[in-house]
Amino acid sequence: MANNNRGSFSSKFGAIAAIAGSAVGLGNIWKFPYVAGENGGAAFLLIYIGITLLISIPVLLAEFSIGRHGQGNAFRSFVNMTGKKGWGAIGILELLGAIFVLASYCVIAGWSLEYIMRSVMGGFHGMTQTQMDVQFDMFVASGWRPIVWMVVFLIINGGVLGMGVTKGIERCSKFMIPALFCILVMLAGVNLLQPGFNEGAAFILRPNWSVVTGRTILAALGQSFFSLSIGMAAMITYGSYIQRRESLTGVGVIVSLATVLMAVLAGLAIFPSVFSYGIEPTKGADLVFKTLPPLFAELPGGYVISILFFILLFFAALTTSLSIMESLVAFFSEELHIKRIYALGIGFAIILLSSTLCALSQMPDSTILVGGETLFDWTDKFCSAYILPLGGLACVVMVGWFIPHYVVEHELTSSGKTPLWIYKFIVFMMRYICPVVIVVLLVNCILDYFGVDMIATLMSLI
Ligand code: TRP
Repeated sequence: MANNNRGSFSSKFGAIAAIAGSAVGLGNIWKFPYVAGENGGAAFLLIYIGITLLISIPVLLAEFSIGRHGQGNAFRSFVNMTGKKGWGAIGILELLGAIFVLASYCVIAGWSLEYIMRSVMGGFHGMTQTQMDVQFDMFVASGWRPIVWMVVFLIINGGVLGMGVTKGIERCSKFMIPALFCILVMLAGVNLLQPGFNEGAAFILRPNWSVVTGRTILAALGQSFFSLSIGMAAMITYGSYIQRRESLTGVGVIVSLATVLMAVLAGLAIFPSVFSYGIEPTKGADLVFKTLPPLFAELPGGYVISILFFILLFFAALTTSLSIMESLVAFFSEELHIKRIYALGIGFAIILLSSTLCALSQMPDSTILVGGETLFDWTDKFCSAYILPLGGLACVVMVGWFIPHYVVEHELTSSGKTPLWIYKFIVFMMRYICPVVIVVLLVNCILDYFGVDMIATLMSLI
């Protein structure tokens, strides 16, 4: 069953860097700080940390255990762990989710390469917000240019993955994750001198319990799952590369807390500048490609800061995309019994096609639409709303209810190293609490699609 030729992370730090690399992505940088700010600042942060510890970590550990015990790609690990082919369907669903996430991710990563180049070539000094808006919209609508950068990004991915799990992914993450942390600390440090620092810091750090509702908790849950790359094959694949001697629980907790730390730092690196210029906080592509560049250009050392900021985005996107691409490479090489390099070729071709369609869907008059939305927007929403909770739910239910206790205990205590009470607590959460909570999240997403506000409906019934 175990395939000894599979790669593995050679050290604990390597495993943590690679897994944190998958988790810390665009979601942490451009979404978390805004969502936190809008949902009560430190109040949201506390709820978020609580939810991560109680709900997301058990789901993450379920995925790790499936990977480490199954010793295979996302599909094979499910089959190996249960001895039943049917469970493999969940692995396939997660892999499909991974392809969908990566389709838009690569396009955005390509944008960050374009913006690294633009900042090197002269920067954004003196540009007005309107000029930035026009420039970015024209770039995205041009069609071919984002596609060229997306291909460059895919080639970089291919280069790293071609070197294998240890020499490629692990080595790259061991450099990029600390570098990413240093850039964030530096940017936050420079922002410290900004007149809007207090306001910016207060936006994400001042607790405001009055805005906390059931919706806040669901927002924290969705964001926490997304941030930990749950439900989309990556954590199962990476779990299969964690060595037996490492504690899964230890790795899971460290990675989760590191991810929160990075997200808070991102907030401190971004919002003080935004508030200093009296601009309304936003999130997503508009925030990083339109609002921020001219603001960063005004900071002391603005030229360098702009370059560093887009390098930061690029690193975050690359370490994340590596985990998804690797999930595909592992799947194709193990299931088709072909060399990694050919599996990489297949993965490359699939993502090239899906990302090109995503990029083209953003051109004016594009007909590549799903349910009235561009393919680019749809893939992202569809994955977060449905595949992610479904995949996560299947993992906890399977590990909590269908796998013999001694197997789960062996994985989660790392053969007795982690205290038994922690194991018992995690299994309790996996069996009873996580499934209920995830079903609520899923129902909320489905109702949301039909325009029904679950929380408001429930409140009106009470
Ligand atoms: N965690 C990533 C981020 O915060 C995004 C992500 C969501 C992801 N699901 C994933 C990455 C699955 C890899 C695999 O941006």
